[in-house]
Amino acid sequence: MCGIVGYIGDKNSTEILIDGLKKLEYRGYDSAGVAVFGADGVNVVKAKGRIKNLEDKIGENVPQGVCGIGHTRWATHGAPSDVNSHPHRSGKVTLVHNGIIENYSELREEMRAEGRVFVSETDTEVAAQLIDKCYAGDPIAAIYDAVAQIRGSYAFGILFDDQPDVLYAIRKDSPLIVGIGEGENYIASDIPAILSRTNQYYLLEENELAIIRADSIEILDCEKAPIQKEVFKATWDVSAAEKGGYDHFMLKEINEQPKVLADTILPRLKDGAAHIFAEEMPDISKIKRLHVVACGSALHAGMVGRHMIEKIAKVPVMTEVASEFRYSSLLFEEGDAVVLISQSGETADTLAALRIAKKRGIPTIAIVNVVGSTIAREADIVLYTWAGPEIAVATTKAYTCQVAVMLLMALRFASERGTASAEELAHYADLLRQIPDVVAGQLTHMEEYEAISQHYKDCEDLFFIGRGYDAALCWEASIKLKEISYIHSEAYAAGELKHGTISLIEPGMPVVAIASGDRLFEKTVSNVKEVKARGAKVVLLCKEGANVDSTVYDDLIAIPAVDEFIRPIAAIVPLQIFAYYTAVARGCDVDKPRNLAKSVTVE
Ligand code: G6P
Repeated sequence: MCGIVGYIGDKNSTEILIDGLKKLEYRGYDSAGVAVFGADGVNVVKAKGRIKNLEDKIGENVPQGVCGIGHTRWATHGAPSDVNSHPHRSGKVTLVHNGIIENYSELREEMRAEGRVFVSETDTEVAAQLIDKCYAGDPIAAIYDAVAQIRGSYAFGILFDDQPDVLYAIRKDSPLIVGIGEGENYIASDIPAILSRTNQYYLLEENELAIIRADSIEILDCEKAPIQKEVFKATWDVSAAEKGGYDHFMLKEINEQPKVLADTILPRLKDGAAHIFAEEMPDISKIKRLHVVACGSALHAGMVGRHMIEKIAKVPVMTEVASEFRYSSLLFEEGDAVVLISQSGETADTLAALRIAKKRGIPTIAIVNVVGSTIAREADIVLYTWAGPEIAVATTKAYTCQVAVMLLMALRFASERGTASAEELAHYADLLRQIPDVVAGQLTHMEEYEAISQHYKDCEDLFFIGRGYDAALCWEASIKLKEISYIHSEAYAAGELKHGTISLIEPGMPVVAIASGDRLFEKTVSNVKEVKARGAKVVLLCKEGANVDSTVYDDLIAIPAVDEFIRPIAAIVPLQIFAYYTAVARGCDVDKPRNLAKSVTVE
């Protein structure tokens, strides 16, 4: 949520900053701006809307200078507008910010009373003014002094007018890395922003201050003492953050699923099912119950995983929305563990849930995609999804990898608790090995799923219904469709329809029924008949060869009749493609849906 980037070196910084911002645009795209140190001081250009608008505004007048900062915004305080865009300037200070200053209002009133004039509605301008107010020639003292007065979250990139060869950065509760180049250095909210220029970086911890020059990086801890930091190396390929000939990142990422699922699953099975996560989770003998806590699609992955963990390992699992969990009564019991699922590893509510659990002494297991992210670093155990960088706001490959890790966890717990025999475990492991090929097979049906999506592209409301793990898939299929196509869609447990929702079914209302499971297949089909009898237009998703007569559906999506253990992954792929092509047909901006951001680093 908001992306920041900074450069200092010997090249003109504007192009480098804009290139970096384009890689961070998934974090927000309400406005963009750059500030570059030129011969006559700091030159700020900013524009409401996409980075393209900023480029158009810059035109031929490219700010010249070898040091600069840039920002792409997801608006929190103050509507998207040129004046509310970052960078913000105050006196000698120019600043970009990711996060929320919670006490901005009282700080602003204090400074107004002192005669300071504010031009924007943002909390960020308050931070710029505060640092400027604290500045009396010593930038380090000013930054520490200011952050001591700030409540909330921040990653700041800061320039001082009288320090043209230094870039300062500090963070708390919002991510920030310092990229290490040769004769040039960087700051960024996330690795893709700098990956084409360097794969080496430092991770800033809470309130560490980076003092960055072209040829040096000094880092101070929160007590202002210089520290040596570990150098991290990103293993992602540069091309992983490029579209690679696809129309959209989302389509590319859907197509990457066979590979990333193989990367996530196969190394974990190399020593057999009994050794899954042997190093990451050496001792789980005390864990008796799991709270799976996450947001959005990550939570939906947890819901699918819950069914498999409970079925195979007999471990009770509760799934909870992170933003609710953190403020709930938190009735933990002995033997509880908290599982946090997060693609970015930075989602504010999920991170808060992790910290609460740790504070209460509850073991924490994180399923994370971004290596070295805050959740990955702070959890007791981290199980990575190896999905590579995911750029499209709507997750696809990270979600299926999260489900895959939950399935692996089911086997790990089953093995530990002896709820599955060695033969059964080996069988399940074989099934997991099949997943990449099963998904690859489904991708050959792209045109078929696209054709079905064309029958629904003009609808304005749609329902997804299913039971058991299919209900969990409904939440995911529904969010996928609504977030990118703007069709209003609802996910319902099929058995709940009669308790209100069925009153919304009228002739022509589209209903996607997910009936991929065996046990509850007939029950779901009965619910499909109920909506069909009331005129609904039905897409039925079931396994190939399922016993269903053609009068109950208008369109059929038949998925491979693989074992139920891996069928949820097979079932979601056509629905990802359905959502994608529906959104494309409606002319939507698939990779950057309105109002959304991929990495939600604010509460
Ligand atoms: C946002 C994204 C979703 C994601 C959710 C949780 O809403 O658009 O795709 O599932 O945040 O993000 P996380 O990074 O924690 O998985």
